[in-house]
Formats: sequence, structure tokens, C-alpha cells
Amino acid sequence: MEQPQVDPRLDLEAEILRLKRERNAVILAHYYQESEIQELADFIGDSLQLAQAARDTQADVIVFCGVHFMAETAKILNPTRTVLLPDLDAGCSLASGCPGDRFRAWRERHPGAVAISYINCTAEVKAASDIICTSSNAKKVVESVPAGTPILFAPDRNLGRWLMQQTGREMILWPGSCIVHETFSERKLVALRTAYPGAQIIAHPECEEAVLRMADFVGSTTRLLEYAVSSPHDTFIVVTESGILTQMRKQAPHKTFVPAPPNAQCACNECPFMRLNTLEKLYTCMRDMTPELVMPEALREAARAPIDRMLALS
Ligand code: 13P
Ligand code: SF4
Repeated sequence: MEQPQVDPRLDLEAEILRLKRERNAVILAHYYQESEIQELADFIGDSLQLAQAARDTQADVIVFCGVHFMAETAKILNPTRTVLLPDLDAGCSLASGCPGDRFRAWRERHPGAVAISYINCTAEVKAASDIICTSSNAKKVVESVPAGTPILFAPDRNLGRWLMQQTGREMILWPGSCIVHETFSERKLVALRTAYPGAQIIAHPECEEAVLRMADFVGSTTRLLEYAVSSPHDTFIVVTESGILTQMRKQAPHKTFVPAPPNAQCACNECPFMRLNTLEKLYTCMRDMTPELVMPEALREAARAPIDRMLALS
């Protein structure tokens, strides 16, 4: 996306706060955002909490500092608000790896199965699903399906496999994965555990099976944060996008948090989509009221029912 011009003399933080008041806007941010964006947010949360905050807000404008499927969910749940996303190209490898037409064809090959889709998918896939889940309520959602009913789970096979182990339910899995969480290596984790004896390994369920097997605790971003803050342990190897460390260090400054390294020499424990949002783009989207998340009303309505089913269980 082309970057609109910003006067370099501007105090961006002050300007964003001014625009927030002027436009009666609320800034919602995911934990994987840059710390300077987290600092300005009215609310920081995991996918479920952000969806609930978007649904419940009275603000006229929802500025969503996260990725496209999150902003889309906000629009689906609160359609009369203007929803802005600082960079419309902020996608997600899970969502782009599961196109609507292929998902519908997959469903058709399994008549009688209940389709559970992880919230990291497009509105088109949501509309063709029976119920949505996030990493914080997925176990409950799977357990809500009557025993004996076949289940399709899309698009994250790692989360799906972990849920099968947690619930004892068989599921047919869509072969998708997150480009960030699949970079964590078991070999490097073993080395880190030796370097930090006694450290707890905490991981997001989007990680691969071998990594999850090593984890002392597995959960959504919010659950990882809560666990790290409330646990009696003082050192944690954190196996998820490194943005979560901002709140961990803020809420438990006396503890040690070690970001798990990716397999290669790269910054790939940062989500390239989440990190497309910058302070400059946050400012310009609030100044210009664009890019705005818009979607066809029929698609919005069709995608809402499976999200509402999830929210009723949450
Ligand atoms: P959470 O719902 O746990 O915040 O996860 C969102 C996500 O995209 C993880 O990669
Ligand atoms: Fe998608 Fe992975 Fe980025 Fe989360 S971290 S938004 S699952 S690409």
C-alpha cells in the first residue's frame, strides 16, 4: 500500500490522541502490534476479546490495529461503525491459504460433517462454516459438537491436531499453517532450555506438534500473558510472535522473558502482516478516514451467524 505523506515535524502520538477525541474513535490493538501502537490503544487483547470489544463499543469509529480478518470480524459484528485498518494489506497466511471456493468444495465432499473454522479466515469461509472458534475457546467449541458427528476443522492443522489431543475427538483437518508459528524449531528450543534451566516454555497452539510437546503451557495470547504474570515461575521461553513480550515485560517487570528464536537467522518470529501497521499509517488512516473496511451486506450477514454461535459459547 502506498504511504500517504506525513509532516516529519508532527508529534504523531499527540495527533492520534487528538483525532481519537475528534472522531469519537476507539483504537483496538492485538498483542503482535509494535509497542508504540500498543501504547496508544484503548484496548489490547486476543482475537476473541478484540471481537467482543468491537461488538460492544459505542464509538463511531473502530481503528483496528491488527490484521484484515480481525477488522472484518469487527465490521461483521458492529456494521454501523466505520472500521479502519491502517494497512489493508495486513493479511494472514492462514486466511490466504484457505480460499472460499476450495473450502466450499471441501465441505461438499464431507456431507453431514460440522465445519468449525478458526477465526483466522476470510468472511467467505466464515459464511460457509457452522461455527467459528478462536484459540481461547476452541476446545469448548469442539466439545459442543454432539459425539459421533464428524468434524471438519480449518484452516490451521496445528491448532486442529492439538485440539484432537485435548478433546479426544477425531477431526478432518484443512492443511494450513501460520508462517510465523511454523518457524519455531524444536532443536533451538532444546538449546534454549539448556541455557535457561528451570524456565517454563509457553507456546501458542499454532506451533507445530514437536514444539507443543515441549511446552509447559499452551494457550491464546491472552492466556499466555495471564499465565506468565500469575505463575510462581520467573523465567519464560515464549514461543509465539515476539510482540506479546511488550505486555509481559510491562505487567511482570521483575521476570525474564526470552523470545523463542526462529529456525533461520531472520526476524520471522515477527508477523510480517501485523507489522505492516505503523504509527505513521495509524495517524494517516485516522486523519484521512481511509483505508476503510467495507464488505457486501449479504456476505456480512452470512458470516455473522457462525460467529454469534461462537460468542454464545464464550
Ligand atoms: P490469539 O487469538 O491467540 O491472539 O491469536 C491470534 C493470532 O493470529 C495468532 O497468530
Ligand atoms: Fe496470521 Fe500467523 Fe500473523 Fe497470526 S501470526 S496473523 S496466524 S500470519
